[in-house]
Amino acid sequence: MLRTLSHAGDLRSKRVLLRCDLNVPLDGKRITDDGRIRASIATIKLLVDAGARVLIISHLGRPESESDTQFSLAPVAERLEELVGQPVIFATDTIGVQAKAASKLLEDGGIALLENLRFNPSETSNDESERIEFAQQLASLADLVVSDGFGVVHRKQASVFELADLLPSYAGTLIEAELEVLNRLTIAPERPYTVVLGGSKVSDKLAVIGHLLPKVDRLAIGGGMVFTVLKALGYEVGNSLLETDQVETVRGFLAQAEQLGVEIILPSDIVVAKSFAADSEFETVPVGQITSSNLGPEVMGLDIGPDSGAVFASKIQESKTVFWNGPMGVFEFANFANGTRAVAQALTQVEGLSVVGGGDSASAVRALGFADEAFGHISTGGGASLEYLEGKTLPGLEVLND
Ligand code: 3PG
Repeated sequence: MLRTLSHAGDLRSKRVLLRCDLNVPLDGKRITDDGRIRASIATIKLLVDAGARVLIISHLGRPESESDTQFSLAPVAERLEELVGQPVIFATDTIGVQAKAASKLLEDGGIALLENLRFNPSETSNDESERIEFAQQLASLADLVVSDGFGVVHRKQASVFELADLLPSYAGTLIEAELEVLNRLTIAPERPYTVVLGGSKVSDKLAVIGHLLPKVDRLAIGGGMVFTVLKALGYEVGNSLLETDQVETVRGFLAQAEQLGVEIILPSDIVVAKSFAADSEFETVPVGQITSSNLGPEVMGLDIGPDSGAVFASKIQESKTVFWNGPMGVFEFANFANGTRAVAQALTQVEGLSVVGGGDSASAVRALGFADEAFGHISTGGGASLEYLEGKTLPGLEVLND
């Protein structure tokens, strides 16, 4: 059973290390999608209202060292302050002088954000003893731990796993909310159940595909990963993204889908471009003719075409449960955003449960102007939600279970 905040007792004057996932996309110092910060506010407010002294910890990106200052959490501290409507002290270290001072001086209901955990290589070290040592230093700052960084629970890292073992630890409300929705996808989902996968890496998604096939009615595939699937079916894909070493495995899952009677929905047309650029020349071609495009045989597919978008949309709309992970194309470039837009629009029209599975897809729907409320749920965890659906044991959840 998951230990939640309702088991934590009186929090007044308690120093709480709150592990969030505030790993937001940045353009320089500008936050381009603050969804993960907004999703963390409910637990922060709950702790503040209970009179706790809240020390927030998070990672941002994958810095090599602390001199990678573009990964500083400073811009996040500013946005956090706006969203919670009270001062947020920013400590420019994680276990150093500033963090210790924040831990000592914070008043009841006060908030501090410590600098990027990953500036300390021990956070992500493969050496367990290094992680434990770092976790011990973090633990010395607080009385208890609240773990609410759903996006990172699939990582066995010091602040996610070892830390929660050293102090009394509880899941925050975001983790509870995420699990409540993901459990609805795994335990008796309403049918038809459609999963839509996109994004660039087929190898990242293969395990989840294998696990999902016996559970779903339809699997729609678009985005960069679709070209490995099209190759497996014998189509030429020009210069599109391709994971040659996965072609055989993909053939295996296509055969498994056929055996199980799962409908595989693939694009019938592709928007191809001469180069990977926002202003590249482009045209729409049927799937069988990618290399005979007017733009030459070296074109690359950067989006699913309009016919495919319409088919994907109608399959989505007639479903009662939909999980979507991964954009259908390079949505950051306006000319290649239509497939992702069509899928997002269709998800907003589902009469049932529609879930946008984290990371890039969450950023995509917001960048395309959709409101969070238009969907049943937008998960804050891309990798984490996929691994949860795969049925894997996630270290950051395991450690919160009695
Ligand atoms: C994510 O963005 O998926 C999480 O914040 C985890 O980040 P990571 O993939 O760098 O561990």
